[in-house]
Amino acid sequence: MSLSQVACSIAESPTLRLNEEARLLRERGEPVIHLGIGEPKNKAPITAILSSAAKLSSGDVKYTPTDGLPSLKKAIIRYTEDNYNRIVSPYNVIVSEGAKQSLFNIIFTLCNPQDEIIVLAPYWVSYPEIIRMVGGIPVIVTPEDGGFVPSFEEIERAVSSYTKAIIVNSPNNPSGAVYPDELIAELVELCESKGIYLICDDIYHKLVFDGRVPAPAYKFTNKDAENTKVIVVNGVAKLYGMTGFRIGWVVANRKMVEVMINVQSQTTTCVSPVMQAAAEGALTGMQSVVESLRLSIQNNRDVLMQELHSFTDVHCVKPGGTFYALPDFRAYVRKSVAKDSVELSNFLLKRTLVVTVPGREFGMEGHLRLSYAGSVKDITEGIERMKWALDPNAPSEIYIGDRKLVRDWL
Ligand SMILES: Cc1ncc(COP(=O)(O)O)c(C=O)c1O
Repeated sequence: MSLSQVACSIAESPTLRLNEEARLLRERGEPVIHLGIGEPKNKAPITAILSSAAKLSSGDVKYTPTDGLPSLKKAIIRYTEDNYNRIVSPYNVIVSEGAKQSLFNIIFTLCNPQDEIIVLAPYWVSYPEIIRMVGGIPVIVTPEDGGFVPSFEEIERAVSSYTKAIIVNSPNNPSGAVYPDELIAELVELCESKGIYLICDDIYHKLVFDGRVPAPAYKFTNKDAENTKVIVVNGVAKLYGMTGFRIGWVVANRKMVEVMINVQSQTTTCVSPVMQAAAEGALTGMQSVVESLRLSIQNNRDVLMQELHSFTDVHCVKPGGTFYALPDFRAYVRKSVAKDSVELSNFLLKRTLVVTVPGREFGMEGHLRLSYAGSVKDITEGIERMKWALDPNAPSEIYIGDRKLVRDWL
């Protein structure tokens, strides 16, 4: 039996695979510390829970319009006005099964076979795979200065007559970098003038630290909702820590939204009304939950940075947002324990039961992505275990769970 070559060429999501590995180890009673996971530990906002519970207990759980319940779309329009200073109509909005499906819909809607989409490294693991899935070509732009933000000139150089879109994810998964407003302004100008779409994956846009308020791409265009090339993707997963509710949305021009509705109507039909009610509850409820999540994550970031400072030979650019950092472990990759970030991540999991994600998955070999969305205890204990395994200056003995271990490989 032969399977589709395209489908078979799609790589498994490494982050989901690691989640599963961690779950299995935990089930066996192992004291795993998960610094790989991309979700905060908070409970969903009470307004989300009440609203979805009310919908569920009504028993009236049926198909909804493919593009989303009108009341949820209204809440998204209000969110767009409040946070982006942009007035859009219900025709500009489509609700999907998480931002991942939103991105799939956009890319499927834009790409003909061989069309190119520019992806900026370090990048979220799913962009290149989704682009390949629809027959497009991901064109990766890696910052030449070794940093986490490509320059405008580097991005401009990657534009060709096949370029359909540029994806911008700021604050960025995996690096936590927040792109400068000037770069966003330049990209908007480039895209509007060349007719290239600018896909802004804003899933972390409220998780920004140190008082910074990055300007949304809309700020730099004077074109209205129907004529701008700016597309915005957002969702409740990271904003409210509601990853399991699977609600994302797109704001785009009406024509694109119409095509995406057709695509979605032939694939998933609509999102569960119970989950849509939850998202509406979160969006219309008290927004202080977002700020308290942001503050606790900022505190976690500070703890992580402090812990990493005492790690010999590890360098880390301080994240300006998200709940990820992408420290440079090249000193250890070059030394005895591992020859690349995949081996290093496996080594750490085996020796220390700490889950990390190899930088190679994000286009940044030699780095490891660490999530600080969990507890302060996980961060401090996780880094202590990593230091024990890698840093010859760290004590050679450690307790992992109730097992005393002695390092004998450095
Ligand atoms: C950059 C980025 N975009 C999109 C998503 C997908 O979000 P959702 O859970 O709403 O599908 C993620 C999830 O990790 C992400 O990191």
